[in-house]
Amino acid sequence: MKWHFPSSWCAFTADEADAQPDPRWTEADPLRGADVGWLSVSREFVRRGARPGQRIYDPFAGFGTVLLAAHLEGCEAIGTEIIPARAAALRERFREHGDAVTILEGSAAHVSPAPQSIDLVVTSVPYVRPTRPPSFGAGNLYDLPDLDAYLAALHEVLVRTHATLRNGAGAVFFVEDVVTETGVVPLTAHVMQRVADVFDYRGQIAVLYPPRASTSGPALPRNHELALVAERRPARVDARTTWPLLHALVRAGVPLVVFGSVARRLAAADHRLATADLAQAADVDVLVPPEPEHVVRAARVLAEAGFELHLWQRRVTPEEITPALLHGRHYLRAGRADLVIDVCYALDGRPYTHLAASAIDVDGIAVASLHVGV
Ligand SMILES: C[S@@+](CC[C@H](N)C(=O)[O-])C[C@H]1O[C@@H](n2cnc3c(N)ncnc32)[C@H](O)[C@@H]1O
Repeated sequence: MKWHFPSSWCAFTADEADAQPDPRWTEADPLRGADVGWLSVSREFVRRGARPGQRIYDPFAGFGTVLLAAHLEGCEAIGTEIIPARAAALRERFREHGDAVTILEGSAAHVSPAPQSIDLVVTSVPYVRPTRPPSFGAGNLYDLPDLDAYLAALHEVLVRTHATLRNGAGAVFFVEDVVTETGVVPLTAHVMQRVADVFDYRGQIAVLYPPRASTSGPALPRNHELALVAERRPARVDARTTWPLLHALVRAGVPLVVFGSVARRLAAADHRLATADLAQAADVDVLVPPEPEHVVRAARVLAEAGFELHLWQRRVTPEEITPALLHGRHYLRAGRADLVIDVCYALDGRPYTHLAASAIDVDGIAVASLHVGV
């Protein structure tokens, strides 16, 4: 992706008066909405990192400021929030915007959009609260006062969030240091390191706010936060993990033909698996006949091998897959940390029989004979 930042800082004067969530919701909140971000800031970053029509994901959605910004910039808004009351407030906030938001409830370490389906992540990282008792419930990063436990939990969310990004897509994490009665937790440095462990870290933009009343104690006054800018690490297909899986599908009775970027890489290597540069492919596309039973059988094999299954944005188990659910959706996406396999069951202009008839056997697997540029 291309970031359009002319400078390593940007300054904001005041947010729009009507940009805050309804006080009915924030007043009932344990933090009283103190962690709600500025709509103008989110809009600026969405504008600079995405084009209208693209899909924006916020794993820590809160009251939905980022998601509203995404919607107002013409993008699709998808978020995860762990506090049910906040998820409800967020939905309410979108009422006057045609309910144009998808909210997943739960921990972003466990629920997320489908792998490789997101164009940009924009999020404010929940901060560690070293001196306060837990109040939000299990899984909430606010409830982990121990810094190591907090960072381990954040790492889990980062790994899962990273998997949602399309190849080449980007992410922005807003974070600031945490001032306590006794000192300062250098949270920006810790989070920066964790982001760089999982993503390709690209650098930071300082987000400057108007001066505010100085905090008491030893800390310097703060009126800025950092936007950590990162990108997805390119996904890579590894033949040593992919081919045994394809064999398992065929053994289970799933007729399939590999097509797409893996087939093109193989064609470029004269269909020799040993020398093909599959690492340049982001995922594996297989075409199966259109009958639902093949998709369900493939789903069972892949679920057993540890893949999560999605029919577009809907997460499914093999048992939930029905002909009605498959109708009009074209492919089942199976994602694991190391690999994404798209099981396509309808492909315009290239029906299974046509592709299978001209396929080439590559180490026991049918591969479409696509001699086109890679
Ligand atoms: C900094 S706030 C986000 C505020 C949001 N940007 C807004 O302006 O409304 C962080 C949010 O992350 C949520 N959160 C904490 N741990 C989470 C987890 N494991 N999964 C999903 N959300 C989580 C918190 O409940 C909180 O609402």
